[in-house]
Amino acid sequence: MNDAAVLKAYKRYARKYDLLFGKVFEHGRRLLIDKMDCRGGENILEVGVGTGLSLPIYPDSVSVAGIDLSPHMLGVARRRLNGSSGHRRALLRMDAQRMSFADNCFDKVAAMYIVSVVPQPSKMMSEIRRVCRPGGDIFILNHFSNQNFIPRVVETAMVPFEKFIGFKPRFALDSFLEEAGLEVVETCPVNLFGFWTLIHAKNTGCASREFRQRLSA
Ligand SMILES: C[S@@+](CC[C@H](N)C(=O)[O-])C[C@H]1O[C@@H](n2cnc3c(N)ncnc32)[C@H](O)[C@@H]1O
Repeated sequence: MNDAAVLKAYKRYARKYDLLFGKVFEHGRRLLIDKMDCRGGENILEVGVGTGLSLPIYPDSVSVAGIDLSPHMLGVARRRLNGSSGHRRALLRMDAQRMSFADNCFDKVAAMYIVSVVPQPSKMMSEIRRVCRPGGDIFILNHFSNQNFIPRVVETAMVPFEKFIGFKPRFALDSFLEEAGLEVVETCPVNLFGFWTLIHAKNTGCASREFRQRLSA
């Protein structure tokens, strides 16, 4: 995947995204926001907010900034917000791999169905840890490579089409966690057949220092 392929795929998906991926991924979105245990006044970031399907699920008492690379996905999200109060919700076009937010400015960060889409997931994770306050919470929801025979065959057959389908069908959980350097609190299976994984991690803050060192090297 590269940014151009992401933009092309999600331009194609934007108008029919809610129909294709709304209900089918709803369980994961609701469970993630439930596990966030949102407290009034908290600042929440959602990276890869897409068409904003999750926005109505957050309680009104928290502020949510949703960012996405695709102007077409954000266009649908903006129309959704216009149809509601839009209170304490902000939508911004921004690359999750290079965010313009200050360090430590969010209490909690959510990334739903994006880690296998973004071209450089470890860069995105470094950015997430940088903008999340030390001790804050990071929630990741995604499909990871399945080792059972039939899903493995199906995923492997889809690999040559990843630019078209807009995500990497084979994406290993172990190497993702290792590269992301997350301090995992809990993982649980979600959605159809439990083929997707919800990860809750604490932001130790160490990685943001590593990231700064790498940037200044
Ligand atoms: C599969 S969709 C998930 C949308 C939404 N989170 C949901 O629950 O349905 C992946 C989203 O990630 C966005 N995306 C991909 N790469 C990105 C990047 N580098 N920065 C921000 N958003 C990105 C895509 O534009 C798309 O809207």
